[in-house]
Amino acid sequence: MSTLRLGDVAPNFTAQTTEGEINFHEWLGDGWGVLFSHPSDYTPVCTTELGTVAKYKAEFDKRNTKVVALSVDGVASHNGWIKDINETQNTTVNFPIIADEDKKVSDLYDMIHPNADNTLTVRSVFIIDPDKKVKLIIVYPASTGRNFDELLRVIDSLQLTAYHKVATPANWNNGDDVVITPAVKNEDIPTLFPKGHKEVKPYLRMTPQPNL
Ligand code: BEZ
Repeated sequence: MSTLRLGDVAPNFTAQTTEGEINFHEWLGDGWGVLFSHPSDYTPVCTTELGTVAKYKAEFDKRNTKVVALSVDGVASHNGWIKDINETQNTTVNFPIIADEDKKVSDLYDMIHPNADNTLTVRSVFIIDPDKKVKLIIVYPASTGRNFDELLRVIDSLQLTAYHKVATPANWNNGDDVVITPAVKNEDIPTLFPKGHKEVKPYLRMTPQPNL
């Protein structure tokens, strides 16, 4: 078991999935990634989550982000369950599900929390950047289905920071004004942010979202 922290390199692994064996880092390539675990196949909340991710695939693609799910069930179980997901959620599962039967990946990413459940993974989410660095970790309880709009929102925010030197304020949504990161010097603002900016305080400088 290891405790992963933001900024750590996401541990690499080889695993069986519903789309064949993957080497995680090679599979990620030079894009962004989301690795998320769920407790078990053939359970109700998980069924809705994986159906939702399948429907959001185009949104992840737009953000150059690959998604991969994981539980400790085997490939045969995943494949049987995918038929149910497709049928009940009116979609087609279009991303791999890792079969972590030996709990190798679950241990690497600390996805089993024994005081919640001794054997099953909780709902962990990791967002990984193109340098393979962990940029976000969230852990939800088994009983709470995740908000995948929130994950897209965080990816948008992380990509704005990575590519445009801005951060996003509380409750930010795509299209809202953003915060110029403290590392940007005042004299560089006109060149970097030609849409203009407002200095609310010397440490709080707002600008229209640069990539729109
Ligand atoms: C579910 O996916 O519905 C679920 C899984 C484990 C515990 C509780 C709910």
